[in-house]
Amino acid sequence: MTGSPRSSAPCPFLRKTFRLEQPVKAARLTVTALGMYECEINGQRVGDHVFAPGWTAYDKRVMYQSHDVAPLLRQGENVIGAILGDGWYCGFVGWGNRQLYGDRPRFLAQMDVLLADETMFSLVTDGTWTTTTGPIRESDLLMGEIYDARMELGRWSQTDYAAEGWEPVLVDAINKAVSIEERLGPPVRRIEQITPRLISGNQNQLIYDCGQNFSGRARISMRTTRDTVVRLRFAEILDPKGELYTENLRAARVTDYHICRGDGVEEWEPRFTFHGFRYIEVRGLKPEEVVELTGVVLHSDMRVTGHFKCSNELLNQLQHNILWGQKSNFLEIPTDCPQRDERLGWTGDAQVFVRTAAFNMDVRSFFHKWMRDVRDAQTAGGGIPPVVPEHNLTNMEDGGPAWADATIICPWTIYLCYGDRKILENHYESMERFMDFLAQQRCIGRIRAHWSVAKWVGFGDWLALDGSGICEGATPVDLIGTAFYAYDAAILAEVAAVLGRADDAAKYRQLHGEIAEAFRRRYVTPDGLMASGTQTSAVLALHLGLVEGEAKGLLARELAHDIEKRQFHLATGFVGTPYLLEVLEENGYLDVAYKLLEQETFPSWLYPVKNGATTIWERWDGWTAERGPQDKSMNSYNHYAYGAVGAWMYRTVAGLELDPSQPGYRHILFRPRPGGSLTWAEASLDTPHGLAAIRWEREGTGLRLDVTVPEGAQATLQPPTGYGEARALGAGRHDIVLTVV
Ligand code: BGC
Repeated sequence: MTGSPRSSAPCPFLRKTFRLEQPVKAARLTVTALGMYECEINGQRVGDHVFAPGWTAYDKRVMYQSHDVAPLLRQGENVIGAILGDGWYCGFVGWGNRQLYGDRPRFLAQMDVLLADETMFSLVTDGTWTTTTGPIRESDLLMGEIYDARMELGRWSQTDYAAEGWEPVLVDAINKAVSIEERLGPPVRRIEQITPRLISGNQNQLIYDCGQNFSGRARISMRTTRDTVVRLRFAEILDPKGELYTENLRAARVTDYHICRGDGVEEWEPRFTFHGFRYIEVRGLKPEEVVELTGVVLHSDMRVTGHFKCSNELLNQLQHNILWGQKSNFLEIPTDCPQRDERLGWTGDAQVFVRTAAFNMDVRSFFHKWMRDVRDAQTAGGGIPPVVPEHNLTNMEDGGPAWADATIICPWTIYLCYGDRKILENHYESMERFMDFLAQQRCIGRIRAHWSVAKWVGFGDWLALDGSGICEGATPVDLIGTAFYAYDAAILAEVAAVLGRADDAAKYRQLHGEIAEAFRRRYVTPDGLMASGTQTSAVLALHLGLVEGEAKGLLARELAHDIEKRQFHLATGFVGTPYLLEVLEENGYLDVAYKLLEQETFPSWLYPVKNGATTIWERWDGWTAERGPQDKSMNSYNHYAYGAVGAWMYRTVAGLELDPSQPGYRHILFRPRPGGSLTWAEASLDTPHGLAAIRWEREGTGLRLDVTVPEGAQATLQPPTGYGEARALGAGRHDIVLTVV
């Protein structure tokens, strides 16, 4: 059923009156849309989902929501209504594309009511519903909302409303090829509220600071004269003059307008849009006309499960920024950023961050849903595109090394963190198809992304500041490709083993051996060094076990030396950075890892923190004191990828690690590795078995530990070097003092 025949806003309002002859015993409303909907019954909102029904490959799958609506119904006359928005279905998505899936929103609902006499009353969307447009003249994810309060429809979803001028809806056939399924994964909700502070204001322009960069929108209460046009703009940072810096938003208008009724206090929060911002500019109102302004934080409703804290306050702010990067970008799908005209499910970004994400929040069902999106986006040939959902966005069948591999790495990580076999079962066939795609279409002699295979080879070590001067960095893309191909094969061998497919496990182990061999032949010199010389090439070779024996020590020494030459500053991009500290620690350079982690000057993790960041920046040089903001064409201040260091803080700084052979923290490894300036650190995680926690504190040359092992789990304490042997810990709380032996 469709609303307005127009392809863009105004948002259609839909309405249907009906009679219930008996009191209601039970009632269920099952509802969905192509686009976005909000439902009302007798003047009350149904449910609290935002942006329902969520984003899927609408040409294949649409999710419905189901609500108990008995409390909203009554015997006698009733009204059900809906407001529709364009959303991802036909609004602006990614680089200014619109109408990706269709021309206008559509709505589908069914209500089943059990009446007091045990008879059923059913209502479906059909040609008896009526439609009109109202105050929402436009509501678009990237552009914002235009709301004309003078056109409000009053009690439109109540029985005493005279629906004059409402017209019959257009009825459309259901596309039978599309599967309509119950919602999977957490819905987006209004999660938190922030009270912004007025930081500058003259009569015509008020600027507010929310103190936090986030995804959401502003709710405003105002009292002013009729016809006043109030304009709200949003930005992540201010320019040197104290004005909003919006150039990095590119084609996203990110502006909301409200035209006032002028009859007392008007409260308004846009419906089908969100912005990524910290600052709000209000024009058209005097300070005293703003009765209240609130920042409404929106994201997929996931429980915070992790906690990390230590004696370095800057690292604590870094952890805060990582968590807020996650909140801002886990909105229906894992997006790269929430502010500019992009906001897409970049596979590479999700892949590098998934492990950290699973510490901070319960992301299990969020990833179940997104991995299904990944399967839906897989091409006929088995390729995985760079963004998911993908629909006429990039039209690329291969996301390239470290991007497409999300299809292997993400489910495996969810399995490790939650002990969730199901995600492996669901995804196995798709993983196999991807491996075949690589073998058949992307490799020559086990070298992946070889330049002669295809013109398109990938994003390289995206945004590495390694002297190359290009976004892809200096590490050869085929080196990254072959390393990740080996990694995929190793993971798939494990997955096959978990699923009891011994033959497949053997096949992928052998494949891994062949790829590793090809990798060494092509990229490792006879001395055991990486021919490419970049840090990321060394990091990948070491992390993925592609160099062995003595060569390992040599390569790790070279890596540490190169970092020292840069005075302990970062030079790696999206691909190398997540494993950098891990590789250093594993190869005896814990001190170097801590120097990088605690580095405060540019480029480093703490440079943005020192400069007031409240989320993770897309680029190490997103802003520098010398130059100001990076190139406006690609510069987000809310990208989570470099926040992937968070996992290292949990796993190594505090020392809370899983055992891959007993996933889901059935067996916990407590392995604190104190270093740098830290005198104490602590982490906790609400694991599938209960709360696991560790705190360590230096006591002279000793270490005092406070460790909690959840009921139903077991743990092993692996002390830092020099502090004695590993020991088993049972469930319960342990107060342990480690001394140098
Ligand atoms: C996005 C990324 C993404 C990259 C790939 C950017 O525009 O914001 O985070 O991974 O493109 O090249």
